Amino acid sequence: MTRRLIRADLAEAAEVLRRGGLVAMPTETVYGLAADATNPAAIERIFAAKGRPTDHPLIVHLADPADFDEWAPAASQAARTLAATSWPGPLTLIVPRSVVLPPEVAGGRDTVGLRVPAHPVARELIRLVGRPLAAPSANRFGAVSPTTAAHVRSDLGDAVDVVLDGGPCPVGVESTIVDTTVDPVQILRAGAITVEQIGEVLDAAVAGATGPARASGMLASHYAPSCQVRLVDTPDDAFALAAGTPRSRVLDLTDDVARYARDLYAELRRADDDAVGTLIAVLPDASGLGHAVRDRLTKAAAPRPS
Ligand code: TXA
Ligand code: MG
Repeated sequence: MTRRLIRADLAEAAEVLRRGGLVAMPTETVYGLAADATNPAAIERIFAAKGRPTDHPLIVHLADPADFDEWAPAASQAARTLAATSWPGPLTLIVPRSVVLPPEVAGGRDTVGLRVPAHPVARELIRLVGRPLAAPSANRFGAVSPTTAAHVRSDLGDAVDVVLDGGPCPVGVESTIVDTTVDPVQILRAGAITVEQIGEVLDAAVAGATGPARASGMLASHYAPSCQVRLVDTPDDAFALAAGTPRSRVLDLTDDVARYARDLYAELRRADDDAVGTLIAVLPDASGLGHAVRDRLTKAAAPRPS
């Protein structure tokens, strides 16, 4: 059920945010749970609503690429180049945190993640509030990210003051995260802005994700549905495995990787709704957006703490 947003909804949501409340907003990637990024009490409410440890840093969303200098005065040249070429869009830049943003928003770190979302509802909301908005994905900690307003309501219910319904998210997986405080820049999370694109824009080497998990989305068993997830390389392997696995379902959107990304989280949730025991997912090729889909599927399939 998608309701058309009217301006009054946005004005009311902006007022809620200015008073320190929580608003779930659509972005092009996934729904975000937004609060005033300059208000420590509002930020605290995000962590409580998600059940997320307070040392896990949040992403700060700006209305316009032109606002970058104000909020990231010490950003590197690589960060400036990426902001100028990829925003608005599904790219988060880790930059030195300036004193204009409170330590709480960054989980106490001296760096902070910034992005300008491409979704018109998110941008208009940030513009109306007149301050940057901290927004993690609008799900309970450790669960699958929401790509519809209904997902948000079923995860967070009354913990959020307003849910803005902008329809299904067009990208479907979280933003690419690039740490621009190191040289060469390092990808911390794969997304729709690909490692290939970043290398091309910077005309420089780009490091992949290595070492201990630095982003919570990089923890094994993040993005996990309740059902078992098994990964295979080909549709033939999937159907062979399914034949011997009771209560199984095959997920294969490898002929359209953009659709795979867009529908992935809804498919993981649907498998749980339908009481599927084992979801057998065919991995897309490891190139372009395929990296992000493989990453989220691999995490969904990782062993879980019991
Ligand atoms: O697409 C997205 O990025 C969505 C939408 C709502 O914008 N947001 C999102 O937020 O995915 P969240 O909180 O679910 O994931 C943010 C990730 C976390 O894994 C966090 O650890 C990482 O970004 N992160 C944020 N600030 C960081 C920092 N200073 N250093 C390293 N990682 C950081
Ligand atoms: Mg998340």
